[in-house]
Amino acid sequence: MTQALSKQDELAAKHKKYVLSSWSAQGALAAPVIARGEGRHFFDLDGNKFFDLASGLVSTNLGHSHPKLVRAIQDQAATLCYSPTTYFNDKRAELGEALSKLSPWQEGSRAFFTTGGAEANDDAIRMARALTGRFKVMATYRSYHGSTGTSIQLTGEDRRWGSEPATAPGIVHFFAPYPYRSPFYTSDPAEETARALDHLERTLVFENPKKIAAIILEPIVGSNGVIVYPEGYLAGVRRITEQHGIVLIFDEVMTGFGRTGTAFAAETFDVQPDFITFAKGVTSAYIPLGGVLVRESLAQHWDTNVLPVGHTYAGHPMCVATGLATVKIYHEEGIFDQAKVLGGWLEAGLKELERKHASIGEARGIGAFWALEFVKDKITREPLVEWHGDGPGIMKNLYAELKKRGVYTFGKFNCTMVTPPLTTTRDELNFALEALDSSITAFEAGL
Ligand SMILES: Cc1ncc(COP(=O)(O)O)c(C=O)c1O
Repeated sequence: MTQALSKQDELAAKHKKYVLSSWSAQGALAAPVIARGEGRHFFDLDGNKFFDLASGLVSTNLGHSHPKLVRAIQDQAATLCYSPTTYFNDKRAELGEALSKLSPWQEGSRAFFTTGGAEANDDAIRMARALTGRFKVMATYRSYHGSTGTSIQLTGEDRRWGSEPATAPGIVHFFAPYPYRSPFYTSDPAEETARALDHLERTLVFENPKKIAAIILEPIVGSNGVIVYPEGYLAGVRRITEQHGIVLIFDEVMTGFGRTGTAFAAETFDVQPDFITFAKGVTSAYIPLGGVLVRESLAQHWDTNVLPVGHTYAGHPMCVATGLATVKIYHEEGIFDQAKVLGGWLEAGLKELERKHASIGEARGIGAFWALEFVKDKITREPLVEWHGDGPGIMKNLYAELKKRGVYTFGKFNCTMVTPPLTTTRDELNFALEALDSSITAFEAGL
């Protein structure tokens, strides 16, 4: 007699049969079926509980099922689910104002809303081209900017390769600092900054700075390993872009909304770009929303010129109402300050793991935005699995060990994200750090 499948097995099979999952060969996929979330945890259909050590995809900043946010979504659904973009909307206006107040610009900002980060980057580039009358755009290697037409071409890593040859021409890549594996052959942070800026300036000369509309970068590299740029780099890029009339775009899709302990990384590093693209944390990922924040002096260009972008869902009432409620919760509950406290606990705990474990080359990050980089040898820094190799390889064993201990996170090649919800308590983090510690011990035993 064949045994009946559990509900979880049945739905996992259905998922594989009827759904295509992102960035994966489908055949080998095996994952729990997540059906419910609460606080810093989510649950599968068998009732297994997982601590969300990555905030989903660095997005559920408030954790799961925050009661006030759930209520705001319910209220909005009962009030207005859609209105045309050609008419104004109350929540859209209020969120625009709230974002302007959060923005790093004294002059304020205006927001163009999208449904995610990739669309926001696509639109930001088109807006920068319209503003400058220039076409070329520069982006860094080791970056991720999203999976739509232009944003995937801006992306500086292997996720772009499946979408080549480029259908979005005019994008030039350059190297940015990476202190742990310097592309500029130095271990001195100040020299790293100086050489990286020199490389950017020399690249500009060969590309013709008068042809460059925008430079886009993540102010802290996100899914490519949480790389915090050495002091002076972002300010140097700002100086160079200003000199040449180039629009500077910070992609704050991951870093925005408290991840670094302030509203935006622009504030953390005290560097003002011209545009900020955002998504994820703006609604704590409860409802899809992204957008482009444009500093007021540049947004005025579109008082007399037609904005060259638009979407059926640009500023969708459900999305902006959720964004507005999220931002209110950030303020009311002091979440950005809480992220700084969480950051202190993370730094202490992860640096301790780095000291203890031979396979951790570096624990690095800022605020509540951290990653562990795994190596074969701490001295030579040889990566545990090759960057741009055949995938996670043995790193899969680490995620399996974590899963066994009720902890979810994700990573790319030899880097593992540690980016819990900003509402994580001391006890919850202690549990996660202990699970990381014992998972890494078990993982190392199998190397
Ligand atoms: C820095 C950055 N930019 C853009 C994106 C794309 O955002 P979305 O997946 O919402 O399109 C991501 C997604 O992870 C990201 O990390």
